[in-house]
Amino acid sequence: MKALIASGGRGTRLRPLTHTQNKHLIPIANKPILHYAIEAAVDAGIKEIGIVHNADSEEVPNAIGNGKRWGVKITYIPQKSPAGLAHVVKISEKFIKKDKFVFYLGDNMVVGGIKRFIDEFETSGYNCYLTLAKVKDPERFGVPIIKNGKILKVEEKPLKPKSQFAVAGIYLYDHHIFEAVKKIKPSKRGELEISDAHTYLIEKKYKVGYSEITGWWKDTGKPSDLLEANRLVLDNIEPKTIGYADKSSSVLGKVILDEGSKIINSIIRGPAIIGKNTIIENSYVGPFTSIGNNTYIKNAEVEYSIVLRDCKITNVKIRIEGSILGNDVEIVDAVGKPLVHRFMIGDQSRVEIA
Ligand code: DAU
Repeated sequence: MKALIASGGRGTRLRPLTHTQNKHLIPIANKPILHYAIEAAVDAGIKEIGIVHNADSEEVPNAIGNGKRWGVKITYIPQKSPAGLAHVVKISEKFIKKDKFVFYLGDNMVVGGIKRFIDEFETSGYNCYLTLAKVKDPERFGVPIIKNGKILKVEEKPLKPKSQFAVAGIYLYDHHIFEAVKKIKPSKRGELEISDAHTYLIEKKYKVGYSEITGWWKDTGKPSDLLEANRLVLDNIEPKTIGYADKSSSVLGKVILDEGSKIINSIIRGPAIIGKNTIIENSYVGPFTSIGNNTYIKNAEVEYSIVLRDCKITNVKIRIEGSILGNDVEIVDAVGKPLVHRFMIGDQSRVEIA
């Protein structure tokens, strides 16, 4: 059993964060999203992982490395352009060979791991095994048409979804998937759709099974998904204090204070994580907040937010909430007269002011 992880694409819905970094490297609870996918494969006992990445950037290979730290071998497979998920599979045949494999979309997160699905697939005799999750907005996903417990077809982002299920980004295959991805044609949006490959397998009478993900699953495609994923991961953290909190501070609930962090005269109400060498002074950090490394927060309040590394938030009078701040971002008080808001904001940013 091998794992194939997709980490390409352009991450357009997460701009401006993705102008300067690959979306799979954005941290959730201070750990890159892609680590969760790798760890899911490692926890399932997989030793060989292929990661498909954008051919024009070495960002993912440089950040992830050869897999030694997880005790696995990682092979990188460059994709020239984001030509679709079936294309990702197609260019990976040399790596997979005749083995069975789990195809894991690097922007998906699932609680409870993937071992249970792999075990079911390996003992079932299916050629393809899909994982389904009930969602409120199936039109955003691949949607199965199910009759009498069997999938008849999978429609990609249908305007009128015929079930409440999304096909989640955790797929299990044997080598017949390569026949499918070679036979299908690009869709109207010009991509080789993984949903069309699934429909091909069904039409050719290959055995396609499925299992429902009853726990938590998230596709972190949109900013609100990142905040939700962050909330869920923080809800399950083990509290740890390596950093320092002074006597006039309160650290309540599940909180990780990482190495070199300093909490001065502040309230940290978990679940929350405070990164390495970050200083929080005369401030409040509320539940479901991740603050990255080397950040400085003084006279400010932050809640249900993700703040990346090297940020500065000082003297902000209104609580910052439901926000995502990239690396090196500053939110500071304006000095001098007249009293103004002064912005220096990159392309496709969004600011809401009270
Ligand atoms: O999350 C589940 C959904 O993922 C499925 O329900 C859909 O059927 C499937 O098409 C896919 O839909 P998305 O619109 O979410 O796909 P997205 O373009 O966001 O790409 C998913 C992941 O794969 C993401 O980590 C980027 C990566 N990717 C994507 C493309 C198109 C690549 O590595 N290469 C690609 O060519």
